[in-house]
Amino acid sequence: MSTGAARPRVLVVDDQPVNVKALAALLAGEVDAVFATDGASALAKVRQAPPDLVLLDVDMPGMDGYEVCRRLKADPATADVPVVFVTGMTQTEDEEKGLSAGAIDYITKPFQPAIVRARVRNHLELKRSRDALVESYRRLEAAQASLVQAEKMASLGQLVAGVAHEINTPIGIALTAASHAGEKAAVLGERFRGGKMTRADLEAFLALEGESSSLILSSLARSAAVVERFKQVATDQAADALAEVDLGVQLREGVRLWEAAHAGVSLEVALSCADGIRLQTFPAALRRLLHALLDNVLGHAYPSGGGRAEVVAVPRDGGGAELRVTDRGAGIAPADLARVYDPFFTTRRGAGYVGLGLTLAFNLVSSTLRGRIGVESAPGEGTTVRVELPARVTAPAG
Ligand SMILES: Nc1ncnc2c1ncn2[C@@H]1O[C@H](COP(=O)(O)OP(=O)(O)OP(=O)(O)O)[C@@H](O)[C@H]1O
Ligand SMILES: [Mg+2]
Repeated sequence: MSTGAARPRVLVVDDQPVNVKALAALLAGEVDAVFATDGASALAKVRQAPPDLVLLDVDMPGMDGYEVCRRLKADPATADVPVVFVTGMTQTEDEEKGLSAGAIDYITKPFQPAIVRARVRNHLELKRSRDALVESYRRLEAAQASLVQAEKMASLGQLVAGVAHEINTPIGIALTAASHAGEKAAVLGERFRGGKMTRADLEAFLALEGESSSLILSSLARSAAVVERFKQVATDQAADALAEVDLGVQLREGVRLWEAAHAGVSLEVALSCADGIRLQTFPAALRRLLHALLDNVLGHAYPSGGGRAEVVAVPRDGGGAELRVTDRGAGIAPADLARVYDPFFTTRRGAGYVGLGLTLAFNLVSSTLRGRIGVESAPGEGTTVRVELPARVTAPAG
């Protein structure tokens, strides 16, 4: 590729030295010309150092220009080198033959110097623009990849900091309660050994001990729940194989598994999926998404039981599908709606919820499933989570 101020390289191929000289003189000062006087050495020169343009004579003994051109085009390493035929033949069939062999232009002899120069300039300019385009596309791709990576690192960092914070608090409480109980036990022991312990001392200690152990227990249970939930969210996706699936089949299976895991709950799940929606996607991620959304309907829309979740999937114009999970339950307050994806945002901390379900859902949809997710809700009217899924997840994110 020619870059910066370097002069473009042009390979001139002709079996007649006089023609080579004429072309070289014509292009002098504008390009660095290299030469070959037969097909085989022309191919070798292009492979060794691809020029920006090849001016190729058609009529050569041995391998003719058409064959040289075909071979260049057949090899991915040299296919992008532009070829212009230079020949004395003027019939249109020859021109057609040349163009169908993969040449981009045709110059006939005897040359008009100004025209040859202009065409060569144009083709070199075209080549330069194309190289620049390819290069900026490559840079764009690299930038995009590193952006995705940076975003992942940022959200991972946020999660880790959140876990540390969420675990620190209950463990701090447990630590305080345990050391307080320990101090009281030491004091009571001293009184006991000194023969000064009263019945009231013992009763007060027992009451404190009961309180402390339930505090310690609930704090540790909270820490364990956070760790357990975090493990679910952070679970490696590598095991989830990309597959061509029928969305209806996947959703039926997902609902069945969710119901099996929640035997005895009174939430009714109604599934409706258009027939024949085929997706190339990660089926296990799809199921985890569905689970998180149904868990939320159960836990937040109808916290006192009952209720109904509707799972609806329809094809989208232009491919892919839209999946909606809707309830007519409690809904979400506007101030909370903006925070539902935040790690550890939950309105039911006291009931053991951790606030990672929609964080997980968001990450699954945007990185693994390559789709988009949105939550619509109004207090008292219910909630709809809308997920757009592409027809094909082309590659797992990073
Ligand atoms: N269907 C719903 N109806 C009402 N509120 C909802 C619904 N889905 C989510 N929410 C609200 O969004 C918050 C965040 O949901 P998310 O799933 O992230 O966490 P969580 O359910 O509280 O905890 P976890 O999923 O970790 O057990 C919930 O605490 C709840 O306030
Ligand atoms: Mg949840």
